[in-house]
Amino acid sequence: DSHFGRPSGAERGEALALDFGGSNLRLSRIRLRDRSFQTLQTKVINLRHNRLGQDLTAAAVDGPQLFDYIAAEIDAFAAGDPSIGLGHCFSFPFQAQDRNSGTLLEWTKEIKTGGVVGQDVNRLLDEALQRRGLKGIQTRALLNDTVATLLCAAYQDEGADIGSVCGTGHNSCFMDHRGRIINIEAGNFRAAVLPLTRYDEELDRHSSNRGHQRLEKMVAGAYLGELFRLMLLDLAFDPEHFSSLEPVAGALVTPASIDSRQMSSLLTTNSMYIGAQPWSPGPDELPCWQRLAEALVIRSGRLIAATYGGIVSHLDPGRTRRHLISIDGSLYEKMPGFAAAIRSGLDDSGSAEQTEVRLGKDSSGLGAALAAILTARP
Ligand code: BGC
Repeated sequence: DSHFGRPSGAERGEALALDFGGSNLRLSRIRLRDRSFQTLQTKVINLRHNRLGQDLTAAAVDGPQLFDYIAAEIDAFAAGDPSIGLGHCFSFPFQAQDRNSGTLLEWTKEIKTGGVVGQDVNRLLDEALQRRGLKGIQTRALLNDTVATLLCAAYQDEGADIGSVCGTGHNSCFMDHRGRIINIEAGNFRAAVLPLTRYDEELDRHSSNRGHQRLEKMVAGAYLGELFRLMLLDLAFDPEHFSSLEPVAGALVTPASIDSRQMSSLLTTNSMYIGAQPWSPGPDELPCWQRLAEALVIRSGRLIAATYGGIVSHLDPGRTRRHLISIDGSLYEKMPGFAAAIRSGLDDSGSAEQTEVRLGKDSSGLGAALAAILTARP
């Protein structure tokens, strides 16, 4: 239970949003009224490369160090603001105690900062704001990005009942029959029906949260490039058949040398980078590698669509009403073929007719600001 429910649409005001979704954070100042949002100011903070010259996602760094840096960035961003509420969209599994606190259960998306698991993340943030002397900035809400996506969609359209994120990570939430938003941490789905390949097994074996987030590791942007690399690597030492891989075999050996943006580049521009090495397979082999990348993208979209079908069946077994799924995330927005695969998967699951799918761009920040306003004391 996220402790959030359907907004009335009458909410209005201004708030700060901290969107902590991975190694890139985004700070925004957002104004909302009459079911629409306006972003007044925004700034990206990189936890891996920053002016401290320290990777704040590493296990050797602790919670106070991480949050002191974030508080310093908030200080610079909100300079001079006497008093404003802040909504924190925190896109990791946490146990929500109430609308403004929650305990991190585990890191995902390869973040490893020490001493945060088991802690209330908004208390860590509050303490850092206090140390910094930022008394006017009040943390008011802590919510998952899927919850932010659904809140944001429901503020604009009363019919919205499913929120999902298909980006670096993957997850979904829904509005239950009592109007409560339930985060299901769909990325952690694991069942015998999941058609795992040996590449999925290998990726999991070398991940920092082995055995967890098994669906996410098959579908999310953080992992598609690595799956593609493992497949290419498997074929690279067969030069008789695939000569275009020969010059990049050395680069392919390095873990994480392909990310999903590079896969998208291969699909749209016919060339990509493997680590620092450019690769443009010739016309004889290009279609084969594009087909492979596409197959991974289609698998991802169709698996996710199957989970949407499951959610719709749970909410509405007789399929009697309209459902609106709002999806945020780079994979949905940018990866060629991904949105079409979601659509075709929904068609096959029999949920297509009453299910509308929409892009909920920038929902994490917008939803976090809305949550801060929803929670504000009158
Ligand atoms: C996290 C979820 C989050 C999703 C999308 C997953 O790794 O566990 O809490 O909603 O990524 O960002």
